[in-house]
Amino acid sequence: MSTSILIVEDERAAAEYLSVLLEEQGFDVRTTCNGIEALIALEAKPYDLVISDLRMPKMDGFELLSHLRQRWSELPVIVLTANSGVSDVVEAVQLGAVNYLVKPAAPALVAGAVEKALACRRPSVAPSRSVSELVGRSQAIVEVRHRVVLAARSDVHVLITGNTGTGKELVSHAIHRHSSLASGPFVAHNCALAPRDLFESEFFGHRRGSFTGADRDHVGLLQQANGGVLFLDELETLPPIHQAKLLRVIDDGEVRPVGAEKSERVSLRFLAATNRDPRAMIAEDALREDLYYRLRGIEIQLPTLRDRSEDIPLLVAHFAGEDCAGFDAEAMEALVRAPWPGNVRQLRNIVQGASAAAGGARIGLRHLSLESMDLAASQQRGGDDAALEAAGGVPRGATLREVERQAIAQALSECEGNRTRAAKLLDIDRSTLRRKIQEFGLE
Ligand SMILES: Nc1ncnc2c1ncn2[C@@H]1O[C@H](COP(=O)(O)OP(=O)(O)OP(=O)(O)O)[C@@H](O)[C@H]1O
Ligand SMILES: [Mg+2]
Repeated sequence: MSTSILIVEDERAAAEYLSVLLEEQGFDVRTTCNGIEALIALEAKPYDLVISDLRMPKMDGFELLSHLRQRWSELPVIVLTANSGVSDVVEAVQLGAVNYLVKPAAPALVAGAVEKALACRRPSVAPSRSVSELVGRSQAIVEVRHRVVLAARSDVHVLITGNTGTGKELVSHAIHRHSSLASGPFVAHNCALAPRDLFESEFFGHRRGSFTGADRDHVGLLQQANGGVLFLDELETLPPIHQAKLLRVIDDGEVRPVGAEKSERVSLRFLAATNRDPRAMIAEDALREDLYYRLRGIEIQLPTLRDRSEDIPLLVAHFAGEDCAGFDAEAMEALVRAPWPGNVRQLRNIVQGASAAAGGARIGLRHLSLESMDLAASQQRGGDDAALEAAGGVPRGATLREVERQAIAQALSECEGNRTRAAKLLDIDRSTLRRKIQEFGLE
């Protein structure tokens, strides 16, 4: 299949010139005359490269670029400009264009730019359109999308790790949705919320009358997920004795409900998530090593939002929604520079809150809720300070657990890891602190 290029240009002559030039070089070329038509063409079929004019009626090149980077963030775009006006080019590059050509560009310049743009594509195994629900264009998130595609195409079990709010559950849904089991069930189970003494019945199910209170048959999680996916969230809270039982099912695929006479076969895929470091859990005997190796057919590690702060404007646009009138530069800057201990979830909550507060007007610093104002004020005092300041505020939408974790992390950092001092600061005893540190994986 030849390499395909989509040209977006409203001037007939210019479009014609480029398409003839590129067809002669063996490319498969299609021309459209504005951004909207280009988006429709992209929905219909994948392209390897887009060459787009900037000034066009209906939807111009800038707007097209913002749509492209949300849905097809790895698709390279070269922009065309009628003059060498720097500001247009700068804006286009900020929006994700990989290169620009001044019209009319000499054939050799066009060929050179096309060759370079095609060379910077990711290998075709990562068709971003297939996992467009994972917003971002940083190297780190591109890598995650790549692994999600790999996971979706294979049938091994998957372990997803990453701090709170980094997108573990989102990734698990994406793997299911793009896998051959997509039409099968997706059953999610939070190991932390399940009552421990009901493990057998919850996972394996039970027959009516098999114990007091079992007044009807119950289909367990393993059978509910048969032919699909069982997502085990907060794996770190599953006691080792239950881990062993799970391991047996993974190995032999047999399930015997409580009170049943014989076993039944199941075939399902396990996706597990944890916000702790699995190797540390193994070291503490909190995670069975054999289960770990069985589950991590593929391991997907999610980056913190801080580690991919270049994605923040994109995520902001994604969460703000279509009716949002945009952000003031200082508001956006505050969002980009904030430390985000609660990661993408926290960003989503603050952006949605600001959107609601602005009621359709442009969003400014004053619309960012109190805690993010804190973030904004502290960012002027710089990096690490900002992280500490921000950890002090309670992020909207944070769970009690998240707040507790943050408070402990902050105290440890303030006391440079000295646990005795940190415990004093938190007004708890040292053994409680030690337990909490382990529980939250803060070693
Ligand atoms: N790359 C992303 N693009 C768009 N939305 C994202 C992305 N990553 C996370 N989100 C959104 O952020 C929120 C939190 O994500 P999710 O619930 O998957 O996090 P999590 O890692 O499972 O967190 P926790 O450990 O607290 O359970 C969700 O609304 C999710 O849709
Ligand atoms: Mg989760």
